Amino acid sequence: MRTFFTLAALCLAFASATSTKPDLCVPRCPAIATAKFTTQIPSGSPCPQTTVDLCYTNTALKLVFTASGETNFYFDPAQTTNGDIWEYEVMEAFIYKGSNDPQTYFEYEVNPNNVTYNAFVYNPSRVRTAGAPFDHAFISDPFGDGFAVNTVLNKPNSKWTSTSTIPLALFNAENPRGTTWRMNFFRTITGPSTFPNQQLCGWKNTGLASFHITPAFGTLQFV
Ligand SMILES: *[C@@H]1O[C@H](CO)[C@@H](O)[C@H](O)[C@H]1NC(C)=O
Repeated sequence: MRTFFTLAALCLAFASATSTKPDLCVPRCPAIATAKFTTQIPSGSPCPQTTVDLCYTNTALKLVFTASGETNFYFDPAQTTNGDIWEYEVMEAFIYKGSNDPQTYFEYEVNPNNVTYNAFVYNPSRVRTAGAPFDHAFISDPFGDGFAVNTVLNKPNSKWTSTSTIPLALFNAENPRGTTWRMNFFRTITGPSTFPNQQLCGWKNTGLASFHITPAFGTLQFV
């Protein structure tokens, strides 16, 4: 109760100090904040529930992704770290430290086979304008760099959960209390009978069948 009250008070203090209400106030671990979404982008049609629990330590961002209502657990077993896992089923976080609409941000993905995709995205148009530059710089040795991941499938309950650790040094953001971030969270859904078509589900609706729209990113305050 005490932790919750403190978090709410800090969140409120930030909102009144800046007149920008964050979408989410992210606490120090083991407290958590949860981003939850249940709709497709851009249509707003229903999507099975996805949650992302977030918290920070002095050196890492911790994310727990939970996909409910999962029926296919669909991935390509041949794909390994930094493969095109986004063609199948993944949960994703786009992450930027700062308050503006980013042109470069980190794209993190995990699939039901515990495989991750780790890349900085270069998107200078901010909306992946056709013909504009759009590039990726991969983190080639995430586990050597301090990333961690653990993915658990719960088929009887149509659910999969992935717990991830992302080093804050990646963002020059150690001891992040008081910092502002922009992020969006996504989930893709497909299966053997629908591949390569996907349902695209998202926290903040980008208004397009694309995830790479940075003005849509939510605002998160680390408190
Ligand atoms: C997921 O992958 C990570 C990194 O290779 C490994 O440490 C972890 O044990 C794996 N978890 C599962 C459930 O396979």
